[in-house]
Amino acid sequence: MASSTVAILLAAGEGTRMVSKTPKVLHEVAGLPMLEYALRNAERLSPSRILAVLGAGSSQVRSYLGKRAVPVPQSKRRGTGHAAQQTLPYLRGFKGDVLVIHADACLVRPQTVLALRQFHRLQGSEVTLLTARVDSPFGYGRILRGGQGEVMGIVEEKDATDPQRRLNEINAGVYFFKGPALTKALLALKPREGGELYLTDTVHGVLSQGGKAQALMVPDRTEVFGINDRAQLAQAHRLLNLRRVEDHQREGVTFLDPFSVELGPDVTIGRDCVIEGGVKLLGGTGLGQDCRVGSGSFLSGAKLGRGVIVKASRIVDSELKDGCDAGPFAHIRGGCVLEAGVHVGTNAELKTARVGPGSKVGHFSYVGDAVLGREVNVGAGCVFANFDGKRKHACRVGEKAFLGSNSTLVAPLSVGARSVVGAGAVVTRDVPARATVIGVPAKPVGRK
Ligand code: UD1
Ligand code: MG
Repeated sequence: MASSTVAILLAAGEGTRMVSKTPKVLHEVAGLPMLEYALRNAERLSPSRILAVLGAGSSQVRSYLGKRAVPVPQSKRRGTGHAAQQTLPYLRGFKGDVLVIHADACLVRPQTVLALRQFHRLQGSEVTLLTARVDSPFGYGRILRGGQGEVMGIVEEKDATDPQRRLNEINAGVYFFKGPALTKALLALKPREGGELYLTDTVHGVLSQGGKAQALMVPDRTEVFGINDRAQLAQAHRLLNLRRVEDHQREGVTFLDPFSVELGPDVTIGRDCVIEGGVKLLGGTGLGQDCRVGSGSFLSGAKLGRGVIVKASRIVDSELKDGCDAGPFAHIRGGCVLEAGVHVGTNAELKTARVGPGSKVGHFSYVGDAVLGREVNVGAGCVFANFDGKRKHACRVGEKAFLGSNSTLVAPLSVGARSVVGAGAVVTRDVPARATVIGVPAKPVGRK
């Protein structure tokens, strides 16, 4: 049986360089708080326990974690080694593997963490680090290697000599330790100048106790990117979005300008969809095959069927079934269901509306709290007046009804099937099926 794993997330740092009232690890990167990435990486290992080292005043972080991790307080922030030391009471007698991961290491892939554990176990090492060669190693700990390429230790930027600063293999802040070796090395840590304890010094500690230290170099250097300030936050956000774009490209999705697109972590996109530049697809948005989402569109919690066309529009928590089209500049707010082939025109707004198949909601119209049958025509500028100043009211419109331009339906009321409402009419009471009404207030003038 594989030995068990404990995961330690280091999340107590002040994040001074973020200059923020929000704890660093709760800043969002590509739709998720930084901490979430480290948590998911830890959870992928099916650990027996996740310990999260948290600083003072971290009640927000604590409540975010909920039952997913055991909070371990670090009252004084005295460095990464000191942070890890706080977990010692939980490691007593633990003989399995320990993952230590910095909560600001958002870009490490779960597969990489799994591979690191496998490598660590196969090699039988006391400590195994994740490293990468990068173009600009400034600010990171550099990996020191001996003549045979063996790992000798880690040196931090501020302690490095000039030749050491020129080394470009860096420490990612993701380690596996054998439990007993970690305990021993943490207990042996000596404070650096300024009283800080470095977790990185445990590598040297393990070696001096006769243990084995190894490093796994990850080929994709973006994985080791740490976030310490807002510029790095923005870079990480872009990198993660680009990765998601690449995942979808492999599944047959075209992106016209991949660098300007934002994709939430849970978004699904069908084959042969085309996503133009500047598009945001967030929340649980899901697109069927052959959709086209035009520049500037914002979709959150949107479900699109097959072949839906969206032009520079905003769609939130709504469903557009096969062959619908919306925009430019349509605003489909929460709770709408548009059956197949519905057309929503320029600057139209819909809210909590069910629209029957083949209906047309013309430009500059507002349809709120309404149920429309099939093939209804909502003319340009038609308004569903659903709010009386205190409460919202609903309208029903029967199939093939024709609502003229600039007409107003004062809810609550129903407009019968195949009826006609004249342009500019203000409808204040129910319209029977096949009737024609005109004027202000609208009066019947005949029946079809
Ligand atoms: C650290 C490493 C460096 C590595 C880099 C990778 C050390 C001494 N240096 O530097 O080798 O290349 O990460 O990104 O470890 N934290 C605490 N308590 C503390 C201090 C920090 O919990 O007292 C946590 C932070 O919340 C953070 C992590 O530890 O998640 C790393 O701290 P940070 O200050 O970002 O270290 P770096 O300077 O980036
Ligand atoms: Mg850092």
